Amino acid sequence: MPRPLTPDKIKKILSGERVALVGGAGFIGHNLAIGLRKFGVEVLVADNLMQNNMVDNLSQKEIDPFRRELNYGFLTQRFELMRDAGVLLRNADARSMTDLPEVLHEFEPTKIVHLSAISSAVEAKKVPGLCFDLQLITLRNVLEYTRLFPERIDQVVFLSSSTVYGDFNGPTVDESVRPRPYGIYANAKFMGERLVRTYSDQYGLGVTVIRPSALYGERCVSRRVSQAFIENALMGKPLLLEGGGDGRLDFTYIDDLVDGIIRSMAAHEGPGTTETFNITYGNARTIAELAAIVKSVVPDAILEERQRDKIKPIRGTLSTKRAEEILDFKPQWPLETGYKRYCEWYVDQWERTQRRLEAN
Ligand SMILES: NC(=O)c1ccc[n+]([C@@H]2O[C@H](COP(=O)([O-])OP(=O)(O)OC[C@H]3O[C@@H](n4cnc5c(N)ncnc54)[C@H](O)[C@@H]3O)[C@@H](O)[C@H]2O)c1
Repeated sequence: MPRPLTPDKIKKILSGERVALVGGAGFIGHNLAIGLRKFGVEVLVADNLMQNNMVDNLSQKEIDPFRRELNYGFLTQRFELMRDAGVLLRNADARSMTDLPEVLHEFEPTKIVHLSAISSAVEAKKVPGLCFDLQLITLRNVLEYTRLFPERIDQVVFLSSSTVYGDFNGPTVDESVRPRPYGIYANAKFMGERLVRTYSDQYGLGVTVIRPSALYGERCVSRRVSQAFIENALMGKPLLLEGGGDGRLDFTYIDDLVDGIIRSMAAHEGPGTTETFNITYGNARTIAELAAIVKSVVPDAILEERQRDKIKPIRGTLSTKRAEEILDFKPQWPLETGYKRYCEWYVDQWERTQRRLEAN
């Protein structure tokens, strides 16, 4: 790929492509859909809204009314932004061999991105069968559909996870490190990686595996630590720092991930090729550093130390050297700017929701 891979060059390459996002109404998917539209790409989002989305937002009993309203606002914003950007949205259960092919057939994609999953390892552990179906049955359907149209579809992008690495052996892992996944979520991701590579090897599909880590950003509703911390601060609940908060994660702002995925499409060399990329900020930071940023935005935030949970995996930095070399990928958002911006947005959304509820 000739460097630099500038936005103009990306637009020239991708303009007119037709990209289907399976599980595309989620946190990553809707941001990617909007990002792709800026490069002149036609985008279809196929989703049945069953996870981290409208169905559980409206039906779950345990969520408190304020947070239900807050998250409802985030989800509504996703659909409004996608509609305004000209994204086509279709309700389809990607587990179904009739539902998914029907919407894909109507759209005639040239690339497909697979995103559907229970995207939390903790939640996936509670329902292993459903985890298997949402990650792997849906992937089977994507791969089988793609296998039928080798002339039209030149790339399947599979959203894997940094959890495939298991406990990190050292401070940094790159794509040459042999995965040692632990638990149902990470193993299903690793099986997914093996499956897409096998379809490439045996049936000539072009595939790209993306390994993101610890994402945060606007309109996320999955309540990972980056969201839980700012929410707890606003609710007057403590931010719990296990072992003093020395655990490290490669926190990544959603815009950097979207940029990396789009680059992996622009740089893709066509059917039969397989690539794997870590797409992260590329510098693990401590939970204590995350908490300090929350404190800078919400000065009343309470920080509380806790004993370390021994079963928590040991993580660190995912090297992005390969993505830098092949995709000209340069992440733009260190925690100090990306997470601060997100926290400020969160406070604003929180206050707007309060005002909305008071007015009713
Ligand atoms: N967010 C992260 O930090 C992160 C990190 C690493 C990997 N990933 C992976 O990236 C992908 C997307 O993550 P996300 O954060 O956007 O998750 P998300 O939960 O926000 O989105 C997943 C979407 O898939 C949809 N879906 C689930 N089952 C479906 C089905 N049967 N048919 C149609 N749609 C279905 C859900 O309704 C939801 O909209 C997942 O595979 C996740 O495991 C996410």
